[in-house]
Amino acid sequence: MTDPDAGGPASLIELDRREVLVAGAGAAVALTLETGTAQAQASAGAEAAPPGTAMTIRPRINGRAMSVEIDTRTSLLDLLRERLQLTGAKKGCDHGQCGACTVHLDGQRVASCLTLAAKMDGRAVTTIEGLAEGDGLHPMQQAFIDHDALQCGYCTPGQIMAAVACVREGHATDRASIREYMSGNICRCGAYVGIVAAIEAVAQGRQA
Ligand code: FES
Ligand code: FES
Repeated sequence: MTDPDAGGPASLIELDRREVLVAGAGAAVALTLETGTAQAQASAGAEAAPPGTAMTIRPRINGRAMSVEIDTRTSLLDLLRERLQLTGAKKGCDHGQCGACTVHLDGQRVASCLTLAAKMDGRAVTTIEGLAEGDGLHPMQQAFIDHDALQCGYCTPGQIMAAVACVREGHATDRASIREYMSGNICRCGAYVGIVAAIEAVAQGRQA
């Protein structure tokens, strides 16, 4: 508040402060509005592919043939999660370093964050949603439950997809080999003992 009796430099300073605050608040609002507009424009730009960067792909995803128009810059992970609502594959690092996004491409495990959706034309993709047949769990899914191979579960879909591939590739011969061939899949909860035990059980046919 300005004291009407107060004069001189102090009141001027008070007034200046208020003006500065009002001006500052106005600037902040303007900045927010501007930033919001810029973000809206940016996100609109992200959704609308520039001319010449759209293409149609026809992959088979979890056994289902589909036709999808994509921006050629889209990653397989974003196609699965953002366009097809297959959110089992997780975005951890988005840089190929954590394995949370692991899916199978023509039976081989890949980091879907580093794989272009444009390469999916005519290819078969399997995600954690398509791993089990029917209502029953895949043996590896059951093994993860039986061996307490998860805590928060964020890495688990990627771990399971990599684990299935690890067994299929013939790399689950012993614990050291399992650890080596699963080293691309990080578990921040440190559930590694259970993960290795689950894979070992499936590889040795002890898991129904
Ligand atoms: S999100 Fe793909 S490897 Fe981490
Ligand atoms: S269970 Fe939490 S990150 Fe692996």
